[in-house]
Amino acid sequence: MNIVDGYKFVPGSHYMEGLTEKDHARFLSYFESQIQPDPYSSVRDRGMIKIVYNRSTHQFSKNSNQTYFQSYSANDTDGGKVRVFPRIGDELLSSNVFQSILYKNQHYLDEYCDRTETANLNISVHFIRYKAPRGGASYSSPIWLHLDDEPLVFIHLIQLTRNAIGADSVISGMDNKPTNVLRLARPFDTLIVDKTKKHAVTPLGSTDGIAYRDVMLINLEAKEQQR
Ligand SMILES: [Fe+2]
Repeated sequence: MNIVDGYKFVPGSHYMEGLTEKDHARFLSYFESQIQPDPYSSVRDRGMIKIVYNRSTHQFSKNSNQTYFQSYSANDTDGGKVRVFPRIGDELLSSNVFQSILYKNQHYLDEYCDRTETANLNISVHFIRYKAPRGGASYSSPIWLHLDDEPLVFIHLIQLTRNAIGADSVISGMDNKPTNVLRLARPFDTLIVDKTKKHAVTPLGSTDGIAYRDVMLINLEAKEQQR
């Protein structure tokens, strides 16, 4: 049995409950202050912090390991190697916006912990900015339909600028034939994916000036990613 049956779209309005537009704007500027050019790709900026969720106390804390590993089968572009990203500051853990988002995801985390008998869950939090000038392209790693190592991934949109083209989320079965296309467009629009369906995001372009797609990924790490 899987938690979200392949994928689930949750409108940003759900995550905005209890938050204001000002909170969102402040979180966007925090996001911007924490990202740097991706050491592995010039088309993105990134930041990462790894945290630990304790199922019994419901507390989140910083992980002592801050490197990120994906298998080659999950990512044929950057998998099979340990990657070190620019670090997001520890203050993220005390951000009211971050805490509010985690709180709304908590029942998924608890369900996963209970089902897999996990007391402490490793979670990687990624800030990823896709940036494309007019006529250019930014894209995801891996580039096209894939299954992540992570049993559950939350893709929270921070912003998609109005000049963006492309950047649509695609869902498919294991046969790679797309079954659903949707777009994270509003603040905190969220796509949750598990390992029963594949997913991808189409490359980002721009109609004018530089387009940005800013996302925060909250990834539940699998045992094979612990390096
Ligand atoms: Fe993915």
